[in-house]
Amino acid sequence: MTVKRDRKHILVVGASRGLGLGLTKEFLRRDYHVTATVRAAISGGGLDEYYEQLTMDTLDINSPSLTEAFLARMKNEIFDVVVLNAGIYGPREKNLSESTVEEISHVMMTNAINPVRLAERLVPMLRPETGVMAFISSALGSLELNANDGSELYCASKAMLNRLSRSFATTYDYLTVLNLHPGWVRTELGGLDAPLDVETSARGMADVLESRAGAGGHEFLDYRGKIVPW
Ligand SMILES: NC(=O)c1ccc[n+]([C@@H]2O[C@H](COP(=O)([O-])OP(=O)(O)OC[C@H]3O[C@@H](n4cnc5c(N)ncnc54)[C@H](OP(=O)(O)O)[C@@H]3O)[C@@H](O)[C@H]2O)c1
Repeated sequence: MTVKRDRKHILVVGASRGLGLGLTKEFLRRDYHVTATVRAAISGGGLDEYYEQLTMDTLDINSPSLTEAFLARMKNEIFDVVVLNAGIYGPREKNLSESTVEEISHVMMTNAINPVRLAERLVPMLRPETGVMAFISSALGSLELNANDGSELYCASKAMLNRLSRSFATTYDYLTVLNLHPGWVRTELGGLDAPLDVETSARGMADVLESRAGAGGHEFLDYRGKIVPW
């Protein structure tokens, strides 16, 4: 699909459901062209009416071959915003000792290592001067807040994401890099007890993303634009 010249362009990685789908819809409403990646085709996402503004693509961030193929397809694109949203909770109700090496590796690769590795490869496709690279983190990754909802692995994976994205931001210090805390949101990952709906969180994060274009630096902000301590 061709991106109209006057339309801003956002890439949302991990857009099949939850916050990724919510961000996709919010930016479509804001008249962006959205390139949205999923691991498997989705239906009933409420995206049909936006077919002229939407490019769906396939990506599993843990698959090197799918990642290379995706990057080859994207090589001529320019993105105003890139959102690395894909994430998993990891083994629920298991502490470090109870988790297998495979479970630990899977959550760290998905939540921390592969988002930053993908971001490094996407730098050439980010609009110079005003482009924003955003990682969906979590306040549960904040060492200072010391929050703990029972999953030390999930918390550690987001702390690792924060640390690796700081190295990324230091290397590419001419970019604007954001780590965003969406709030506690009702999704498959967040669960039914979460106080926030997807629309409110996505609208807030979209406001923050738009407000930071060209600002530079590396900030950890929540969906209302409030600073989250590292
Ligand atoms: N919900 C909350 O309260 C909350 C709070 C703080 C931070 N977050 C963060 O927000 C992000 C989105 O979470 P959510 O609540 O929307 O969760 P969700 O509803 O479970 O959605 C997770 C998304 O990530 C995708 N994904 C998972 N593994 C992937 C992989 N290897 N490659 C590509 N895509 C992958 C999923 O795709 P499939 O459909 O293919 O599985 C899905 O689109 C996550 O990074 C999460 O840690 C959420």
